[in-house]
Amino acid sequence: MKEQEISYQELQAELAEVKAVITALRRGEVDAIIGKDNVLVVRLIEVEAALRREKDFLQKLYNAIADAIITVKLPGRIIEQVNNSVERIFGYKPEEFLGKGGEIIYANREEYLRISEKIKDALEQGIDIVYSEHYFRKKNGDIFPGDITISFIKENNRPVRAIGVVRDITERKRDEEELQRYRGQLEELVEERTAELKAANEQLLHAEKLAILGGLAASIAHEFRSPVFGIQMVLQEIKEKASLKKSEQKLISLAINENHRMSKMLLNLKDLYRPSTDTSAPSDIHQIIEEALEIYRKKLQISKVKVVKNFAENMPKVPIVADHIKQVFLNFIINAEEEMSASGGFLTIQTRVLGEKVQISLRDTGHGIAKDKLNKIFEPFFTTKLSKGGTGLGLAVSYGIIKNHGGNILVESAPNAGSIFTVELPVTGAKEI
Ligand SMILES: Nc1ncnc2c1ncn2[C@@H]1O[C@H](COP(=O)(O)OP(=O)(O)OP(=O)(O)O)[C@@H](O)[C@H]1O
Ligand SMILES: [Mg+2]
Repeated sequence: MKEQEISYQELQAELAEVKAVITALRRGEVDAIIGKDNVLVVRLIEVEAALRREKDFLQKLYNAIADAIITVKLPGRIIEQVNNSVERIFGYKPEEFLGKGGEIIYANREEYLRISEKIKDALEQGIDIVYSEHYFRKKNGDIFPGDITISFIKENNRPVRAIGVVRDITERKRDEEELQRYRGQLEELVEERTAELKAANEQLLHAEKLAILGGLAASIAHEFRSPVFGIQMVLQEIKEKASLKKSEQKLISLAINENHRMSKMLLNLKDLYRPSTDTSAPSDIHQIIEEALEIYRKKLQISKVKVVKNFAENMPKVPIVADHIKQVFLNFIINAEEEMSASGGFLTIQTRVLGEKVQISLRDTGHGIAKDKLNKIFEPFFTTKLSKGGTGLGLAVSYGIIKNHGGNILVESAPNAGSIFTVELPVTGAKEI
């Protein structure tokens, strides 16, 4: 017989009719069905076929669902029905599950107790769906994270079945963990960059402060140089020509010395910040060091300071304003000599090439610098040599020059352990200094 497509509503209607016939039969109301025999049989066959098709479809749908669907009977929680996906998720064949207790799917007793508690609470509160994350156990003992959604089927207001849908969330968890890790790395990176930015900002502020101070210093120096020079001339004339008492002679000499110190200070002040137009040119660093040493050779000899040179062989030409850099080395050499003039010592000058930069370090065997003074020595006017005519501008000027060259100055020193001043200069990127 040809099966005829029949809609769900029609099916319902047919069922109602069949039910009516059966009721009539039970009651012995034969009249009610006489004449309907043939129609009834045909209808019964049609209905049965439609029901079978509907069941097949639902069965396919049930098994096509990727999550494991496990139905337990309540209150015993014995597994009564499962779909095919349980095999992929748990490793059990569907028939192996049937008749087992519901706890078999959980990783351990604690997980099972936890879900039992949730189910109990939900039923007490009249909630029909429970969602929960757990660790589950496969047939081979492997544990995996998953979530379970449990819904209840009730009869006469009492739960008779629970349907659990289990989804493996291993990948989701892994993604979440990876995301968390990335987030952590990102936070670290942000912190690092913030610290770098802060340091760069502080350096910039320092450089800016120095530039403003330098500009001011240069204009003061400019204004004061002529009068100081004039006073020097007058004092010199008085000393030479006037007939003075010995005590007066002494006073004049003192005035000349102080005035001399003042003119030296003005000279240094002028250089504190040099926005000059001198252009840098590839220069021989070793030759510049030699020239600076030559200027101070006599003084070093008198103070018994022995110079040791440890020069790199592959030193490239470095883009610098040679005169400015010579002044920096000279300041270092003078400072080193001043530290060792009492009993002599060694001044070791080492040059190194480090990729894109060169390093020039000057090590002395002098008194060294106390920790609390280390961060002050580059400040303008910081000096421990006031009585010897120190202006405290040598290092400040040097710092400004090296920063203008895109370089850096590093100091290592400790009391009685000598000092090392290291200049770093970039090899590439010549620019207007
Ligand atoms: N090689 C060194 N060893 C120990 N201390 C040093 C050394 N170089 C510099 N200092 C300290 O740093 C201070 C500042 O040095 P800086 O060259 O700027 O000024 P100064 O030498 O005191 O005076 P100026 O150079 O103007 O004559 C010095 O007074 C000294 O205390
Ligand atoms: Mg000095």
